[in-house]
Amino acid sequence: SLLLLLTIVALQSSPAISDPAVSYSGYKVWAISPRTNEENQFLGKMSQQYGLTVLREARFVNSSMDLVIPPTLERDLKNVMDNANIPFVVAINDLQTAIDNQNSNNDEIPNSRAAAHNMTWTNYHRLSNIYGYMSYLATTYPNLVTLINIGTSYEKRPLYVLRISNSSSPGTNPAIWIDGGIHAREWISPATVSYFIQQLVEVPANAKLLKNVDWYIMPVMNPDGYEYTFVSNRLWRKTRSVTSNPSCPGVDPNRNFGYKWGGLGTSTNPCSDIFKGTKAFSEPETLATSNYILGKSSQIKLYLTFHSYGQYALIPYGYDVVYPPDYNDMLALANKAVSKFTKYQFSVGNSAALLYAAAGGSDDWAKSIGIKYSYTFELADTGANGFTLPASQILPVGQDFFPALEVFVSQVATTT
Ligand code: ARG
Ligand code: ZN
Repeated sequence: SLLLLLTIVALQSSPAISDPAVSYSGYKVWAISPRTNEENQFLGKMSQQYGLTVLREARFVNSSMDLVIPPTLERDLKNVMDNANIPFVVAINDLQTAIDNQNSNNDEIPNSRAAAHNMTWTNYHRLSNIYGYMSYLATTYPNLVTLINIGTSYEKRPLYVLRISNSSSPGTNPAIWIDGGIHAREWISPATVSYFIQQLVEVPANAKLLKNVDWYIMPVMNPDGYEYTFVSNRLWRKTRSVTSNPSCPGVDPNRNFGYKWGGLGTSTNPCSDIFKGTKAFSEPETLATSNYILGKSSQIKLYLTFHSYGQYALIPYGYDVVYPPDYNDMLALANKAVSKFTKYQFSVGNSAALLYAAAGGSDDWAKSIGIKYSYTFELADTGANGFTLPASQILPVGQDFFPALEVFVSQVATTT
């Protein structure tokens, strides 16, 4: 048993070079709608007790909690649910099949660009393709596009922001910040944000969106986590930094920003998916991003961050049900933006009221430094596919959202 102990210690203290890929074969996703607060609490305890992966927390009653159910626990959990008399539906019957089918196999790489970059919006792409596309744009449109390296991730990947500006002196226009990929598994986010980049830079008809506005766009804020979802675990959410628990790496970047850090909806446990980290901005990714935004905080008038899933437009604050003094302005603009959507229905409202309280989010922090308009968008869908949204929906999601950017531009252009 000493040998066993030593082996365990050795295994835990030597960081895996590349963790083997997790298979979700036979795993199901259950969608459960607690009807009372007691049921909601019961489900929280159950998922903790069985160590279940929570894909979505229920917001109060009658909303959906999505849980990953391993085949080994299915029978037990069914009994638990039957005994508690809580109904559920199987949202995803085999998670690995959903993962395997997420990318289309007839991805079209435009012929004319085949040598220049490998980006498309009919497939989800590795970081190298997204970054390759960003540098392609910077070299192809040097008067419009600048690739900015704002820092380095925990695993030493570059953190890139793309500035799009047709101004002769970039930095003087009011600016819109957009980021994606804070959470690793939310693949629709980097896909949609990079679609915005493509539309703004490469579609001449959209040049009106560049008039008197500079764009700062960061498609993948958490590149380590993003890559990890391709090679090891499709459902990884956090960063990949080492924590006090060698078998539980990673901090939730959206609990790591420095406003009301460590409050409601956060965890001190490194094994939790909502681990807040050891201090605000403990993560190189959130630190570099916040420092960069701070340096531009008088220019940036609007902060947009893209997550999935649920189809929500979330307005600060999210640390608790607290409404900023100018909440009505923020609500009016969000409603105007959302009214442009024709395909996907979004719910609009205060983040903590609509979803759940969660402190340390990037949106709250952006609001706290004086960026008047700050929103979190939870993109498609509402749970049928969840994080494994098929690649065939990238374009529909992007196309449905894009007209809302015009609403945001109008607001920024008129208030300055
Ligand atoms: N789904 C996001 C999260 O849990 C929502 C964040 C909303 N913003 C907030 N400050 N709580 O991270
Ligand atoms: Zn998220």
